[in-house]
Amino acid sequence: MMKLSENTVLITGGSEGVGLALARALIANNRVIVCGRSEEKLRRAKAQLPGLHTEVCDVTDAAQRDSLLSRLRGDFPELNLLINNAGGKWPCDLLDPACSAALVADMALNFTAPVALTSQLLPLLRERPRAAIVNITSGLVYLPKAEQAFYCAAKAALHSYSRSLRWALRDSAVSVCEVLLPLVGTNFHRGRPPRNLRAISAERAAELVLKGVASGARELRPGKSALARWLDFLAPHRGLAAVNG
Ligand SMILES: NC(=O)c1ccc[n+]([C@@H]2O[C@H](COP(=O)([O-])OP(=O)(O)OC[C@H]3O[C@@H](n4cnc5c(N)ncnc54)[C@H](OP(=O)(O)O)[C@@H]3O)[C@@H](O)[C@H]2O)c1
Repeated sequence: MMKLSENTVLITGGSEGVGLALARALIANNRVIVCGRSEEKLRRAKAQLPGLHTEVCDVTDAAQRDSLLSRLRGDFPELNLLINNAGGKWPCDLLDPACSAALVADMALNFTAPVALTSQLLPLLRERPRAAIVNITSGLVYLPKAEQAFYCAAKAALHSYSRSLRWALRDSAVSVCEVLLPLVGTNFHRGRPPRNLRAISAERAAELVLKGVASGARELRPGKSALARWLDFLAPHRGLAAVNG
């Protein structure tokens, strides 16, 4: 259980989409820091939420991560909630030998960056009486889309890492919550907004994430993510056909 007030929260990728909705939901009762690459998007986020602390940081860049972390250690030593939300996907054709460019980009943003940030922040988080790490993954962990194969593989790696980390921290005051989001209607689907009308809103996704954190949930599979897990268990081939159809 984690109370959702008086925390100091770092949300990666908090300048739009689910991250910004999380910041909006938390800002009244918590100190909220968001990071992203685009100064312009961060400026717009701050215009909407004046109390927001913004940091320009490409989380895939080790030097930028280091300087963000040293600023956080100096300015926000009370940081106790890390939300690894920044994510992105690169289309790939697995039959094209050049597809490894997508592999590198997808793994860097969706797996290596959150793991590196977590490892570097753990000493600080472990000093707090209560702390939490929230990893945002996807229902595609269970039923991957071939045209986003490396994004799905990176999220599956983050899913596995979240379980190992939770085990490693089992006797500590740091909890690990993974939220496997279903389709959310954000700019994540650049140029190809989800045609599926059942996409949830960023605000609803943020509400679900925070409900999970507050309740001490280990893994949360809202809506279709729960369905994907069961379909993978009961009829994996049909599940893959449904997702890739
Ligand atoms: N939308 C969906 O349908 C869906 C479904 C399942 C899971 N998810 C997951 O939910 C999370 C949030 O997705 P979203 O839909 O809110 O995405 P979004 O609307 O595209 O927002 C992504 C955020 O991440 C930031 N970002 C991207 N690359 C970054 C980098 N290298 N360093 C720092 N920040 C970076 C972006 O800002 P800059 O561009 O300025 O860096 C932006 O603030 C992601 O982990 C995604 O994989 C989304």
